Amino acid sequence: MALTDCVDDADLAAQHSPLMSPLVWDLAHIGNQEELWLVREAGGRPGLRPDLDHLYDAFQHPRADRPALPLLGPDQARSYVSEVRAKTVDVLAAVDTAPRTPSETERAERLLADGFVFGMLAQHEQQHDETMLATHQLRRGPAVLEAPEPPAAPADAAVLPAEVLVPGGPFTMGTSEEAWALDNERPHHTVDVAPFWLDTVPVTNGDYLAFIAAGGYTDPRWWTEAGRRHVQEAGLEAPLFWSYDTGAGVWTRRVFGRTEPVRTDEPVVHVCWYEADAYARWAGRRLPTEAEWEKAARHDPASGRSRRYPWGDADPGPEHANLGQTHLRPAPAGSYPAGAAPCGARQLIGDVWEWTSSDFAAYPGFEAFPYKEYSDVFFGPDYKVLRGGSFGADQVAVRGTFRNWDYPIRRQIFSGFRTARDASAADNGRG
Ligand code: AVJ
Ligand code: FE
Repeated sequence: MALTDCVDDADLAAQHSPLMSPLVWDLAHIGNQEELWLVREAGGRPGLRPDLDHLYDAFQHPRADRPALPLLGPDQARSYVSEVRAKTVDVLAAVDTAPRTPSETERAERLLADGFVFGMLAQHEQQHDETMLATHQLRRGPAVLEAPEPPAAPADAAVLPAEVLVPGGPFTMGTSEEAWALDNERPHHTVDVAPFWLDTVPVTNGDYLAFIAAGGYTDPRWWTEAGRRHVQEAGLEAPLFWSYDTGAGVWTRRVFGRTEPVRTDEPVVHVCWYEADAYARWAGRRLPTEAEWEKAARHDPASGRSRRYPWGDADPGPEHANLGQTHLRPAPAGSYPAGAAPCGARQLIGDVWEWTSSDFAAYPGFEAFPYKEYSDVFFGPDYKVLRGGSFGADQVAVRGTFRNWDYPIRRQIFSGFRTARDASAADNGRG
């Protein structure tokens, strides 16, 4: 509600970028999905507005076409979502959400077991809240969102090693235990990962400025062929929302309607996969694979177990990670020592989504549930995986196993990265 109450009705119905829906579409879509999966499918209740299903079906109407649809107006959308929420609370009071093992055919039972459908819809809402925050970042006009600065970096941020060693060997990737994990995170399986070095912290604006200054954008040595074609066609020369102030001779960045000098100690954000991949090659490194990222974030060499989060199994707190739109920017690199992984890497969860080198693919034994359009239809070489969550993502939709994905050209999302390199057998012995 905070994301929609801060602008007027015309702004809510407007399309701020062809990449995004009008904010009022996201709002009613959140309610419609909750009605569909929770009230109707799991709760077995009659629908409130099944006639709206087609308007808010993301597959029937691409984002660019949504403003032209006969959508609910802002006030109608607000009352619709609150009526749906009241039904959801009724369902919650009436159903059995105890953990159990329902048969494959009992769809409603499977949705209710462990309260999965409630977790799924909470995550869906929060995913759209992050999308709406990205719409706010694209929106022109005066600033309407305010948030406190993230905490200052700890004293040791300046003296952290540049990279940490992740020893080689098998680890458990994905999960079959986490009650609210979505279908693409399942089932758990063993992956053998060769030893590698990983950046202790995400690549910063300062690091990225050096790539720009070295002529990185125009040097064909750093780009894949598709990446080079894309930078040329799209005319990319810096992250999205950056401009060069020729008078002052500095790069500035627009952050939720305010322009500020680029802060060199902050993780870079709003870069596409092609930019991340080119930067890594320029640095003599590479992006981590998705399995490497998850091993660094979850594997505990002491117990041999994979944890829920880098710091252990406890739910995220403000000392662990920058999540939940509390701060509307990444925290300085080296922040959140209490959120460090066993390997020593920091900020794997929160701050910026991290591009990996991997295509979005099904794990062995994957089964689509409850609908193919969540992940199944996106598997394949068109999408790259991002991990870890951003300052705009809520903790209900972020964990060590959570998988996000997007096209390699996308950068309106809160995307950054860190780099990796292979380790030698000798490195591994020392680790
Ligand atoms: C997981 C962020 C790629 O926004 O397309 C929301 C999440 N799926 N509604 C997306 C989602 C259906 C999805 N991502
Ligand atoms: Fe959705």
